Amino acid sequence: MDEKRKVIFSGIQPSGELTLGSYMGAIRNWVELSETYDCYYCIVDMHAITVRQNPADLRRRALSQLAQYIACGLDPAKNTLFIQSHVPAHAQLGWVLDCYTMFGELSRMTQFKDKSAKNAENINAGLFTYPALMAADILLYQTDLVPVGDDQKQHVELCRDIAIRFNGVYGDVFTLPEPFIPKTGARIMSLTTPENKMSKSDKDPGGCIYLMEKPEDVLRAFKRAKTDSDTENCVRFDPAAKPGVANLMQIYSCASGLGFEEIEREFEGRGYGDFKTKVGESVVELLRPIREKAEDLLKNKDYLASVYREGADRAAAVAARTLRKVYKKVGFVER
Ligand code: TYM
Repeated sequence: MDEKRKVIFSGIQPSGELTLGSYMGAIRNWVELSETYDCYYCIVDMHAITVRQNPADLRRRALSQLAQYIACGLDPAKNTLFIQSHVPAHAQLGWVLDCYTMFGELSRMTQFKDKSAKNAENINAGLFTYPALMAADILLYQTDLVPVGDDQKQHVELCRDIAIRFNGVYGDVFTLPEPFIPKTGARIMSLTTPENKMSKSDKDPGGCIYLMEKPEDVLRAFKRAKTDSDTENCVRFDPAAKPGVANLMQIYSCASGLGFEEIEREFEGRGYGDFKTKVGESVVELLRPIREKAEDLLKNKDYLASVYREGADRAAAVAARTLRKVYKKVGFVER
């Protein structure tokens, strides 16, 4: 008998270009999981407007992000790839879930605290209720697993709490999702300030590597990466004492498939300079086929439009089933 496959949902905001962090923390695993799960991978443009965006840039990045999803290995025939704003059920369930999410819960979210500190002039209601919309994204598809980087774990846990609360009142409406966080690469740090997360909204361009970046720029950024000011000059995995080296080791491990001990052995007796060059080269080789394929796909806008339209149709059909059930449970009159 054909058993129902488990469901995966994840998304990335097109609020900046895709980074090596989002690749290593999330997309890499999406590709791996896409063979065995029923997968929904979304471009969450509605989340992106919680911070002010230039409309033309937002539109361009959403399309480019779709091309990069495909170029990373997500086959649109096997995965539902779509744009959040094309499926109105996200906003509709988002509103319902707003009414089942507590002010105190939202106030505790680290990302809200960080982003409101960075955007003090625009602490809008959307930025605050964002986790409820994210919960809607996940719960609409009766998702089992949410592959994300470490920084999103708190949001997935809140989503679970919201689902438990809703199910507690109305019966089993939502599947309870679990976060899926990789062992290596869950938190890639900035190359210039390894105490901060690598982030697409990073103001320091040298700290962040983009998937579409040119090889010479990638190599240069790695050569300039901050290593540690210890006198040891030795490649050893010790995140507390050597955060810069540990970050580069994480990156190299994800790019090459080597474990930390193998990496330590490879660079025994060699200095940081050699190490940084090698990490840079491994990332260039990792990104080369992705960039080339994405550039190719971006020349064919009709194809990309057919992918996001088909994706939205498939997603909307599944999402509508959950939304209908929720509307009925809360007592809305059927049309
Ligand atoms: P976003 O757009 O900030 O990041 C996208 C994904 O990339 C991961 N990530 C990282 N992983 C490791 N190291 C890093 N430096 C790094 N930077 C980013 C993130 O953990 C994330 O998995 N709220 C989400 C988007 C979202 C979502 C969802 C995710 C909206 N709805 C539903 C999952 C399910 C966000 O802001 O991710």
